[in-house]
Amino acid sequence: MTANAARSPYEALGGAQVFRAIVDRFYDLLESEPAYARLRAMHGPDLSPMREALAGFLSGWAGGPRDWFEANPGRCMFSVHSGFAIDADTAAQWAEAMERAIDDTPTASGALKAQLAQRLSSMARGMARAA
Ligand code: HEM
Repeated sequence: MTANAARSPYEALGGAQVFRAIVDRFYDLLESEPAYARLRAMHGPDLSPMREALAGFLSGWAGGPRDWFEANPGRCMFSVHSGFAIDADTAAQWAEAMERAIDDTPTASGALKAQLAQRLSSMARGMARAA
């Protein structure tokens, strides 16, 4: 295995600044696009704590610094969301806004972008409750 092949997706995509830029674009889309109004309305008025939390979660999940996981020991993403009424529509809004945010953000590896978008999209759609 070469050193390059051992790099985490976090590093290959460009590290903390790239994950923060994706998350900022994601919440900017939620705040500006009427298509994501239902998803936006599920969140609190101030999205800055979510910008921190989602960037921290995604960075650790992709193999980067694990600060969010250390600050939230044993916290499971599916349990975090079990109290919200996530249906197929709001899950699809999340997935689409995230796909767009990833697409709009320059990263160090173009090839990994599609994989990142696909994984997060399936995670979001998996959180929807059956109607
Ligand atoms: C399926 C659609 C989803 C909906 C509707 C949704 C909605 C929410 C809401 C309403 C909150 C609380 C926000 C607040 O307190 O203002 C939240 C928290 C959070 N969500 Fe989601 N979410 C979805 C999918 C995801 C996915 C796929 C991930 C990860 C890849 C994720 C990561 C997070 C994180 C990290 C938090 C903060 C947890 C914490 O620190 O307490 N969400 N989400």
